Amino acid sequence: MLSLSPPSNPRGASVRHTSRLHYRHLLLPKRPHYSVTATKHYQNNPYPHNDISNHRPWSLHRFSPSSRWRRLLLNSVSNQTFIAEKLSDDSILPVNPKPSKGFSSKLIDLLEALVVKFMHDTSLPLNYLSGNFAPLRDETPPVKDLPVHGFLPECLNGEFLRVGPNPKFDGDGMIHGVRIKDGKATYVSRYVKTSRLKQEEFFGAAKLMKIGDLKGIFGLLMANMQHLRTKLKVLDDSYGNGTANTALVYHHGQLLALQETDKPYVIKVLKDGDLQTLGMIDYNKKLTHSFTAHPKVDPVTGEMFTFGYSHMPPYLIYRVISKDGIMHDPVPITISEPIMMHDFAITENYSIFMDLPMHFRPKEMVKEKKMLYSFDPTKKARFGVLPRYAKDDLMIKWFELPNCFIFHNANAWEEDEEVVLITCRLENPNLDMVSGNDEEVLRSFSNELYEMRFNMKTGSASQKKLSASSVDFPRINESYTGEKQRYVYGIGTFLDGISKVTGIIKFDLHAEAETSKTMLQIGGNIKGIYKMGHGIYGSDPVYVPRETAEEDDGYLIFFVHDENTGKSCVNVIDAKTMSSEPVAVVELPHRVPYGFHALFVTEEQLQEQTLI
Ligand SMILES: [Fe+2]
Repeated sequence: MLSLSPPSNPRGASVRHTSRLHYRHLLLPKRPHYSVTATKHYQNNPYPHNDISNHRPWSLHRFSPSSRWRRLLLNSVSNQTFIAEKLSDDSILPVNPKPSKGFSSKLIDLLEALVVKFMHDTSLPLNYLSGNFAPLRDETPPVKDLPVHGFLPECLNGEFLRVGPNPKFDGDGMIHGVRIKDGKATYVSRYVKTSRLKQEEFFGAAKLMKIGDLKGIFGLLMANMQHLRTKLKVLDDSYGNGTANTALVYHHGQLLALQETDKPYVIKVLKDGDLQTLGMIDYNKKLTHSFTAHPKVDPVTGEMFTFGYSHMPPYLIYRVISKDGIMHDPVPITISEPIMMHDFAITENYSIFMDLPMHFRPKEMVKEKKMLYSFDPTKKARFGVLPRYAKDDLMIKWFELPNCFIFHNANAWEEDEEVVLITCRLENPNLDMVSGNDEEVLRSFSNELYEMRFNMKTGSASQKKLSASSVDFPRINESYTGEKQRYVYGIGTFLDGISKVTGIIKFDLHAEAETSKTMLQIGGNIKGIYKMGHGIYGSDPVYVPRETAEEDDGYLIFFVHDENTGKSCVNVIDAKTMSSEPVAVVELPHRVPYGFHALFVTEEQLQEQTLI
């Protein structure tokens, strides 16, 4: 039988004040020495500095999140037995919605056409339908043996993935994957086969409301169109209405595609790198609410921590999922009104929630022609720190800091009595900036790296600015999730009607920030900037560790698009040196639209996945 008991700390009480670094060396299995076979593309290497001899052999010290996770997963026969048991349960739901065409459907279509004709503001720029934001109409089955300039190190064996909204209908999640194996690369792109996509394919047209349309009376009417379609069973909402377009996570042998208004979709990476949507996961009916796009996987315990937010009470629900994929009971968190909460953070002993004043205010949407979520600059930012295995929120401690909004945190950890949060803090945010419709709005906000401290004993909170604007999508060596670490890699953006990634910045948290600087430049805590170049734009970089225990001894891998040529590629750069010369560039068969979050699934994880 599966036990649902836990809430005790799987690390054991003695772990509390023990740095994970102390036992990291225990997790280092030996590896054979590295040998490289030069590929045809390498022989024509246009990046001569990347001579193979410059690259170190595998160290005997091996450490990666996957190896730790694997050790935890495979550390006993009972665990293996447990996996076999898990295979027989049925927590992946096949998604087969049942929409219907007919008179009701046609009538609502007509009503909607009239609303759009008379009320839609056609003067708004269609940024997300132009340039490299434009959708790709078709999926791409695996395209093998892509040109590789430089070389792909062995630690990159696996699949690099990024999901994003492909505006076919309303930004359906499309995953772009590059399967890397023994220096060769294969590209694939597949839609996440959501209930939403399946229904819109059935109709051959968009039928569900778009978040960007939810503004003013027009937004109210469009929301009601969807409500009417659902009520009259034109649409089937039994599987949710999400797009699975925001982020990916790997946990318990499953790759999940996420969007914060819906449940996760399970994606299987096939042998040739292809991507197959298996269905939706509800953890044996325990998940009855939305699931954040940014859950946190503890690399030591293998647990996943997550939450969902809603405009209906309880506005916030916290969940813990064991390393074996068992979801524990819901923990409602009390907040005063519904808000948008895009991310959170964990430490060894706590989970940190952000009650920030981006409020769900449908009345303001209609009366003041605002977006559905609007920012209140008069309210404080609140941060709630809850023991991570709490069964309710009685022990949560709330801290207040000056008004702000946060999309993404880099990491959090504990230092004596304090909980430290490294985050990207926004001032004067407005969700209009996301759609890039208002240049004034785009230029009036700032987005900076910050350190925040919450003293669990005194209840005081403080914050310190660590960078100029604008920095977001922070990434770290994820084997340090929840523990003190040193390096953060963020994207630097340039605001030109709509934000685009112009560079990747490496921060050293041990160095003092040069806070007088108004631009992101090398110096102080900025140890490196990888600049994309004129007309070239990057995206969310994933850190992949090399086979050493050094925190920054690894690679950053990310998609790049060159607007000068219309071509896209995947770049691999050295995270330690942040050299302007990539270690590898993989040419892609066609352009890849700008997207959201990326993930690297290791070879070991791909093998584990076959157990599911
Ligand atoms: Fe995000």
